[in-house]
This record gives sequence, structure tokens and C-alpha cells, in this order.
Amino acid sequence: MNIMVIVAHPNLEISRANRAFMLEMSNHTNIDVRNLYQEYPNWNIDADKEQQLLLNYDRIILQFPLYWYSCPPLLKKWFDDVFTYGWAFGPEGEYLKGKEFIIATTTGGPENCYQAGGDNWFTISEFLKPIQRTVTKCNGIYLPAFVTYSAASQGNDAYLSQEAKRYVEHIQASSGLLVH
Ligand SMILES: Cc1cc2nc3c(=O)[nH]c(=O)nc-3n(C[C@H](O)[C@H](O)[C@H](O)COP(=O)(O)O)c2cc1C
Repeated sequence: MNIMVIVAHPNLEISRANRAFMLEMSNHTNIDVRNLYQEYPNWNIDADKEQQLLLNYDRIILQFPLYWYSCPPLLKKWFDDVFTYGWAFGPEGEYLKGKEFIIATTTGGPENCYQAGGDNWFTISEFLKPIQRTVTKCNGIYLPAFVTYSAASQGNDAYLSQEAKRYVEHIQASSGLLVH
């Protein structure tokens, strides 16, 4: 299975968690990692190129730090520019049909904040629903997200390298193992 990882981090220079994930992935030749903010410093996303790239992969990973309960804005623009009517959805818009998508996100908040009655009230699955529906609207297959909680506070090197290994296992696992 060939895998494309789109990393959308506005500030990778000071990142620890997402950078640890990128370092771990560099050991795996079947995973192609792209850095969205580096590729498009002016935010002029090349939709044709992105669509062509999407066609080449079976599984697409959307990796980002959770910013205000959502993805950073360049990734939102990527959806807006690339998932177009007549290509991703609508009449003859079937190019994403059957492709697998996985969100991989890191949070500052601990896991127990992300539950009913917790500090953030909702689960991560609930916060990620707009992306889930974007994928399924385009006939893609939405697989369970990978989440590293407490990435900012507890994010010491040992924890983050352990999470990076768990991440790489998750994104390479067969869909049957991810969905029960
Ligand atoms: C602008 C901004 C918004 C953030 N919003 C959230 C949030 O909504 N929930 C949360 O748990 N953490 C939030 N954080 C913390 C980041 O998610 C956390 O620092 C990041 O995932 C750590 O990964 P990194 O080391 O790769 O940057 C936010 C951080 C910034 C800078």
C-alpha cells in the first residue's frame, strides 16, 4: 500500500510532536511525506498537482496539530481548492472513491478533557466530524483517527518517540485492523 502523508503545521520549527512523527516516518520508504506549509508559503495551492498526487495513492494521511478544535487553515484551504465539484463530488466527481483517509492529530489537552462533561465537552471524534463528512461526501473511506493527547505538556522525548512508533503502526495497519 502506498501512503501519502500531508503534514499541515504552521510552525514546524518549534514543533516537537509532529516533528517526531516526521522523523519516525523517514525510516519507512512506502510513506511519502509532504509539508504543506513549506510547499505553499503563499497559499497558492496547485489544485491540478494535488489532484494528480491523490490519484497515485491508496491511503492519504492528514497530519496536523489541533488548533482551536480544528485543522490549521491551510489544510482547510487545501480541501476547498482540491476537492472540487465534478472531480471529488457531484456528477462524474468520483476520483476519490474508495481511497482511505486517516486524520492524525496532536492536542495540547489531555485525553480526559475530550469527553462529555470534560473541559472541552466533546470527544475528538466529534470535533473531527466536518472532515469525516468531507471525506465520505467524496466517497472516500474514513478510517479511525490517530490522536496523541497531551502533546504540549507531557510531551517529553520518550513519550513522543513512543507515540511516533504507535503512529507509524496505525497509518500502515490494514483497514480491517483499524475498524472492528
Ligand atoms: C493557535 C493554537 C491553537 C491551539 N488549539 C488547541 C486546541 O483547540 N486544543 C488542544 O488540545 N490544543 C490546542 N493547541 C495546542 C496544540 O495542539 C499543541 O501544542 C500541538 O498539538 C503540539 O504539537 P507540536 O509539538 O507538533 O506543535 C493549540 C495551539 C495553538 C498554537
